[in-house]
Amino acid sequence: MSKKLTISSIKKSKGVRPLVMITAYDALFARLVSQSADMILVGDSLNMSFAGKSDTVSATIEQMIYHTNAVCMGAKNSFVICDMPFGSYSDKTTALQNAIKVFQQTPADCVKIEGGKDKAQIIQHLNDNGIAVCGHIGLLPQSVRSEGGYKVKGKTEEEKISLIEDAKAVEKAGAFCMVIEGTKADVAKEVAEAVNIPVIGIGAGAEVDGQVLVFSDMLGLFEEFTPKFVKKYLDGATLVKDAVARYADEVICKEFPKEEHTY
Ligand code: KIV
Repeated sequence: MSKKLTISSIKKSKGVRPLVMITAYDALFARLVSQSADMILVGDSLNMSFAGKSDTVSATIEQMIYHTNAVCMGAKNSFVICDMPFGSYSDKTTALQNAIKVFQQTPADCVKIEGGKDKAQIIQHLNDNGIAVCGHIGLLPQSVRSEGGYKVKGKTEEEKISLIEDAKAVEKAGAFCMVIEGTKADVAKEVAEAVNIPVIGIGAGAEVDGQVLVFSDMLGLFEEFTPKFVKKYLDGATLVKDAVARYADEVICKEFPKEEHTY
């Protein structure tokens, strides 16, 4: 991507072309993905794929700030979203204090918050104080412990109505776009049609305004589990393991280093 997107160009993309979002947690991968992604999300999923934890709940604001800075260093011309971790936006004051920390300590363009109607006041408060917000509705990974697992949303009429209300509340509160996660495709389509800001899907079908994937999933680096909605564009784990095995063999039989690698 040659030109960095802005809040305004992201909003205007709705109905024009799908937006491409991908996660990154460090400068190295941020630089690699920045060429093709419209937006880079420093997701709290880093607590799982980077830090090896079983869910996102224990991610901290300090962790998010550290990784957001790394991503911004690697992708200086990209629109970067910093995920607000669990507990960092439990009320308006806490949310503003932590979002200000993110804005003062990183060059992130906006923050992301999980929740719908219940978080509208918080989104509004951040927006009123100059902090752009990307919403996140549908399956909310930070609620995994209280919900007893990752549950696909939009399976009942009641859930559909509630999701549409969530999307409208997030939009009204001033969010410039939102993620919809783990939601039946037909319901996600209706949600996207109900609002005027882009709705970016993950496990929410094709009829939304863009897609987001976790980079380690789509590059096939994470072997333990592949969610149904992930397409692996690379068999990264096999490539890395094969390369390291070849290196190990060559070290052991003294084939590496050769003359050309030696001073
Ligand atoms: O943390 C994350 O990577 C996310 C995506 C799953 C959207 O929130």
